[in-house]
Amino acid sequence: MPSAAQEPSSRDLDIVLLGATGFTGALTAEYLADHGPTGLRWALAGRNRGKLEAVRDKLATIDPALADLELIEADSGDRASLDAMVRRAKVVISTVGPYIHFGEPLVAACAEAGTDYVDLTGEPLFVDLMYVAHHATAVKSGARIVHSCGFDSIPHDLGAYYTVKELAAKGPVAVRGVVRAGGVPSGGTFHSAMEIMSRARETRAAAKARRAVERRPEGRSSKAVAGKPHRDKVLGWWLLPLPTIDPAIVARSGAALPAYGPRFTYSHYAGAKKPWNAAGVALGAGAVMASAQVAPLRNFLLGRVKQGDGPDEARRAKSWFTVDFVGEGDGRTVHTRVKGGDPGYGETSKMLAESALCLAFDDNPKTAGSVTTAEAMGDNLMARLVAAGITFETR
Ligand SMILES: NC(=O)c1ccc[n+]([C@@H]2O[C@H](COP(=O)([O-])OP(=O)(O)OC[C@H]3O[C@@H](n4cnc5c(N)ncnc54)[C@H](OP(=O)(O)O)[C@@H]3O)[C@@H](O)[C@H]2O)c1
Repeated sequence: MPSAAQEPSSRDLDIVLLGATGFTGALTAEYLADHGPTGLRWALAGRNRGKLEAVRDKLATIDPALADLELIEADSGDRASLDAMVRRAKVVISTVGPYIHFGEPLVAACAEAGTDYVDLTGEPLFVDLMYVAHHATAVKSGARIVHSCGFDSIPHDLGAYYTVKELAAKGPVAVRGVVRAGGVPSGGTFHSAMEIMSRARETRAAAKARRAVERRPEGRSSKAVAGKPHRDKVLGWWLLPLPTIDPAIVARSGAALPAYGPRFTYSHYAGAKKPWNAAGVALGAGAVMASAQVAPLRNFLLGRVKQGDGPDEARRAKSWFTVDFVGEGDGRTVHTRVKGGDPGYGETSKMLAESALCLAFDDNPKTAGSVTTAEAMGDNLMARLVAAGITFETR
């Protein structure tokens, strides 16, 4: 548990947002400016003061009082600047990616200082390396390190959590989640995705190292199970296995929370209503995956997509997502859906900001170390997201 010097309540800032000058960081700053509670003590952080001032000027058009918002200069490559920043905050948000390049010093600083941390990573390699290196330190300091607080993986993690509660089975439970979405990625997301796909061997090694040190629940099991392409009998759609970070995170929540029952399994898919759409998705994903393996092709594609860019407001307004869940247990089946707008950015910045507010202000279950959104915030975060317009429904 935190020492007196590290007690979050003694800190003079509720939230610090590092990466406020980036595409998703700026949207997160706007969300906090629009929806943060009265009296929220927060600051923008980044490595370039001029850019931070420009973000603050924009926020002041939402709320003139934000013209005085504090700006903190901090660089991921300068550990002392991060230490000074995290000691002042209850929660630090990071939108600085690819996280495998820039993320570790901040996770280390938060784990040591007992400062809660949220990010947007969808990079399994980063999450597993951070677990091995910093989970134990965070458990000691009391810091909650919550990765993947955006479209990766909140709708999936909290959607599975909701489905398990709706099913309320006593015996083994199997859940499948099926994603459908329309939207365009930002430059930062494209760079991070390419990075993940080009490092498959390291990713497998990091997962193995994590398994060697991670405790499993006693007398229960929780597993992510890779599915096969098939036509779903409940949904009537064509499903393709989706190897993102999400199934591992859902399985971690299943391991942490006894409500998921004695034997929990989760499979994750992309869904298409027509078989030829499913074939198109499979071909497109295969082509990007193949390009990521060939360095000259990868570098060519990365050179054409600039970090800091992303879809404009009109494009984002047309974007959407649904994640359908089918839960089976005790001879019963339940079908639920999580639904929202622009998955990559509008809803992601909302989910990230609400996660930080939830850690800073809500009465959550006592947790510490590397924890999932369901484990650390469960019902409180779900209630916040529902109030903010994301739907969780049983069909
Ligand atoms: N999983 C999801 O659902 C989801 C959704 C959206 C985004 N993301 C992830 O979020 C991350 C950000 O995406 P984005 O599109 O917003 O990226 P971006 O526009 O490129 O922004 C990156 C930010 O990182 C900052 N930065 C870079 N190096 C830094 C350093 N050494 N020290 C401090 N700050 C540094 C940049 O600052 P400067 O302005 O000074 O360059 C900028 O503010 C990516 O990893 C992306 O994959 C995930």
